[in-house]
Amino acid sequence: MGDGPQGSGFSRCGFLNVMPPVLDRKHPSAADLEQAAHRRLPEFVWEYLYCGMGHGDAVKRNRHALDRIKLVPRHLVGSDETDMRTEFLGQTFSAPFGVAPVGLGGLAWPHSAESLARAAGEQAIPFVASTFAMASLETLYDCAGPCAWFQLYRPNVETIEEDLLHRAETTGYDVLLVTVDVPAPMRRDHDIRNGFSVPVRFDHRKLWQAALHPQWTFAMAREGFPSFQNLLPYIPNSLKGNDALHYLSDITTGHVTPGILRRLRKRWNGKLLVKGVLSPREAAMCQDLGVDGIVVSNHGGRQLAAAPAPCDMIRAIRSATGSDFALIADGGVRNGLDIARLLFLGADFVMMGRPFYYAVAALGHQGARYIMEIFKKEFKGTLAQLGCRTVGELGMLKAG
Ligand SMILES: Cc1cc2nc3c(=O)[nH]c(=O)nc-3n(C[C@H](O)[C@H](O)[C@H](O)COP(=O)(O)O)c2cc1C
Repeated sequence: MGDGPQGSGFSRCGFLNVMPPVLDRKHPSAADLEQAAHRRLPEFVWEYLYCGMGHGDAVKRNRHALDRIKLVPRHLVGSDETDMRTEFLGQTFSAPFGVAPVGLGGLAWPHSAESLARAAGEQAIPFVASTFAMASLETLYDCAGPCAWFQLYRPNVETIEEDLLHRAETTGYDVLLVTVDVPAPMRRDHDIRNGFSVPVRFDHRKLWQAALHPQWTFAMAREGFPSFQNLLPYIPNSLKGNDALHYLSDITTGHVTPGILRRLRKRWNGKLLVKGVLSPREAAMCQDLGVDGIVVSNHGGRQLAAAPAPCDMIRAIRSATGSDFALIADGGVRNGLDIARLLFLGADFVMMGRPFYYAVAALGHQGARYIMEIFKKEFKGTLAQLGCRTVGELGMLKAG
């Protein structure tokens, strides 16, 4: 892989790093990019991305659970070469992490999903296109190629469900993730307080926030405020503004039952994953229904405030499913060490949502590739600290 967007990443000089380029010095980690995004985004957009359900208890829990995982370094091992390549679901990726689906991500920065999809394709990591993406699933596949996966909020109108599946199939998508942890529309206090809507309706408060964040405002004004490109064909002409948003959220909160999963399994010829599983019993049930794997996830703490952290459930879920079942985990992952932590616990692959969109909000399009490179460098460094030459060897740490 190439170096940072400015052409030169950290180059090694013995055990010292030579002076890093400006971008690295300003934003050495995802945490720095998160702060920069916070400075750049109007409060109503920031809160949409950042906040969790209620008081954010599950968001905090995700972070604390990861911090508790200790890994014992191993230095006296045979080789200093590390190889991050990962075979997963029949594809070879350059590292064991990918971009989770984020609906309305285009509000963070114009065309952020397209930027991330393009960078993911170049970097050979998966990009998951949300049903609620602000670019069409066809456009996102054009950007990411076979690295694009599609996430489905099951529409409760069968013709729409079939049309989405047909579009995804004919476009070339192989991996379909069916999200099951949004069985009903949720009341998110911050969005209600902010009068959050798509398209954005600028009342006095939002206008003031936009005026205080001119980079975001000019970028949006220049490139056009985003809309639901992916779902546009299904919105009746008579519905505008918030009515269209409510209509979409009503038709896409289809409760997913075992019977529906069985039907989707028959319908979808590619890989089928269920996203939003936290219980070992439901993980085993998904396995019995013939799906190829699950995403152990609490939706980044945005659904049930009392939900456990995925990190705390992986071991039990892995025991319930055995080793021959694909497990992806997400929630609170913010650096290469966190990726290693989840793989150590038994996940095969890791996803992140917010950090990728913060990076694009902070740096524009170049942020997409930049953050992926940071995660790769951090993960590679962590593998070296743990004496692992390959991603698979993280599993051997479990044996001591
Ligand atoms: C603003 C936002 C929008 C999201 N939209 C979707 C979505 O459309 N579909 C979905 O399955 N998950 C969605 N998620 C959940 C993510 O896919 C992922 O599970 C979560 O972000 C992981 O936590 P992290 O943000 O701490 O990395 C969303 C998350 C956020 C923060």
